[in-house]
Amino acid sequence: MNGITGRVAVVTGSGNGIGQSCAARLAADGASVAVIDLDTEAARAVAADIGKGGVKTLGLGVDCTSRTAIENAFEEIVATLGPVDILVNNVGQSARGRMSDFADADMDVLDFILDVNLKSCVLCSRQVVGSMKERQYGKIVNITSESAVNGSLKTWEYSAAKAGVIGFTRSIARELAPFGITVNAVGPGATRTRAIDQLPVELIERISKGIPAGRMGLPKDIANAVAFFSGDQSDYVTGQTLLVNGGNWML
Ligand SMILES: NC(=O)c1ccc[n+]([C@@H]2O[C@H](COP(=O)([O-])OP(=O)(O)OC[C@H]3O[C@@H](n4cnc5c(N)ncnc54)[C@H](O)[C@@H]3O)[C@@H](O)[C@H]2O)c1
Repeated sequence: MNGITGRVAVVTGSGNGIGQSCAARLAADGASVAVIDLDTEAARAVAADIGKGGVKTLGLGVDCTSRTAIENAFEEIVATLGPVDILVNNVGQSARGRMSDFADADMDVLDFILDVNLKSCVLCSRQVVGSMKERQYGKIVNITSESAVNGSLKTWEYSAAKAGVIGFTRSIARELAPFGITVNAVGPGATRTRAIDQLPVELIERISKGIPAGRMGLPKDIANAVAFFSGDQSDYVTGQTLLVNGGNWML
């Protein structure tokens, strides 16, 4: 047993990339998995695919920055799969095409970045902690970023939001530890998902050469760490942040 089999898991933003890989891994480890994503088609397709192994899955289109949409989604998840044991707060992104120096910043971008990275994590966590406390069991895994600790250029609002995720993780980890609930964060470095794959090949090669491990991360590298924090091997680990970045930046 791994502590994941038979549990109910929710992975936010799991229609693509890292979230998709985490959802697939938790399903392969025997959890029922709710795949929730802004992109309804992607959520349904991933849910159908990872359910082929025999576990129950549910794919829902949800905007994880909307409190009402989240409340409705979790109601449906609990009614369909049961109370949530594992929550992976994966939704998030940087400003991508709207990146800027702080001195030139558009404050609308700040609101978007805080909402999608930090508020989504807080709102989804709020949906599960009550029931986890009652059942004296729960695993919350928040996806932060290496940017939260290395302060990468032109992603100041993303770094701030992801650092907020680490602070939130530590704070509720302390509150919830007496109830058998662990809360941890995983911080990917550059990982081969669609945003990275759009970069010029030469740039990808240059970045890869600068990483001690000699390559960028793959979504399954992140899913391995998420599986650790979702299962019973991490029962005595809480409030921690694990960077999964090939040694690019060390805490
Ligand atoms: N890929 C990287 O290099 C990298 C590095 C560090 C951290 N991260 C973090 O990892 C997480 C996943 O990143 P990724 O690269 O897999 O992203 P991705 O863009 O490939 O996938 C993100 C998914 O989230 C969904 N999504 C976006 N906004 C949403 C919303 N409001 N509600 C619900 N779903 C929403 C998208 O539709 C998409 O399916 C993010 O939190 C990101 O900040 C990624």
